[in-house]
Amino acid sequence: MRKMFRYDQGRFLKHSPNSRATTKEGALAAIIMTYHVVEKGLTMPDMRLGFGREMILGLVESLNEFADKYGTSEAQFIEAVRVIAEYKKIHEEASFELDEVRSRVISALLSRVPVEPSSQIEMTRERYWAELDAPFEAFSASRHSVRNFAGTVSLEQIRSAVALANNAPSACNRQYVRVHCVSDREKIRECLALQNGNRGFGHLADKLLILTADLRSVWGVERNDIFTNAGIYLMNLCYALHKNKVAHCMLNWSTPPLSDKKLRKLLPISEAETVVVFIACGDVPEKFKLASSPRKSVEETLVLH
Ligand SMILES: Cc1cc2nc3c(=O)[nH]c(=O)nc-3n(C[C@H](O)[C@H](O)[C@H](O)COP(=O)(O)O)c2cc1C
Repeated sequence: MRKMFRYDQGRFLKHSPNSRATTKEGALAAIIMTYHVVEKGLTMPDMRLGFGREMILGLVESLNEFADKYGTSEAQFIEAVRVIAEYKKIHEEASFELDEVRSRVISALLSRVPVEPSSQIEMTRERYWAELDAPFEAFSASRHSVRNFAGTVSLEQIRSAVALANNAPSACNRQYVRVHCVSDREKIRECLALQNGNRGFGHLADKLLILTADLRSVWGVERNDIFTNAGIYLMNLCYALHKNKVAHCMLNWSTPPLSDKKLRKLLPISEAETVVVFIACGDVPEKFKLASSPRKSVEETLVLH
């Protein structure tokens, strides 16, 4: 067992961007993570004009460094520049003056890489739920992470989503995931205070789901399978929530051990269950915005051998 964990640890330490090695993949991943935060900011319920000054400056700097080293043709690099262009456009349209440094570096980047601004998705409640009975392609394309909630969802909706999600396959059919559902608003607030990706919308969630996987069902070499099995279940659950008109946003549980311990003081989750992810849930408002989160192409994703 120790050997296996050491092998995993060695590979992680060698290849993750935490290591000193700088790679194109790592640089691009950092760019995508940051532009996604800007994208999310542009869709927030009460978008604060001028938000994210340091983040924008950092992103522009990373984009220039990336362009110097690897050129400007990567699709996700271009998307990041498009998001910067949208950020500029939104502030111009609102007649909000960005400070001199920010305006200057943004303009220089846009002269270096001329692009059309991206456009976050304007949505209505009616349109968001319009494809629930559509063929899988349209149904799947209609699910998005929702970061703006209004109104409540019932325990019946959650129960029927979990019943549907239970169709998910699992290794040897062991089905060792659990969905903890938190309804108490104060408890939800306390749990979300331990998570780092819900600022600006978490307080609107009506229910919080916490997906766990039980270590008591997993043997040695299967050490990573809890996340495979939970991941398969998670996607099925998201589709099932969508089908049951529960708008939702997955929230990472990539937290230090102290937060994990604090969570277990707030809720009676067995020590043997690994917390995999949170899901903030609610109903959607009449009008709201969705982050466009464009995908890589099939050519970038599919590797033929
Ligand atoms: C494991 C996981 C963790 C996530 N964590 C967060 C988070 O902390 N905050 C957030 O706003 N979105 C989070 N998301 C949502 C992603 O940003 C989103 O799924 C992605 O941008 C694709 O957009 P879509 O869900 O609208 O298709 C997470 C998604 C996954 C799968």
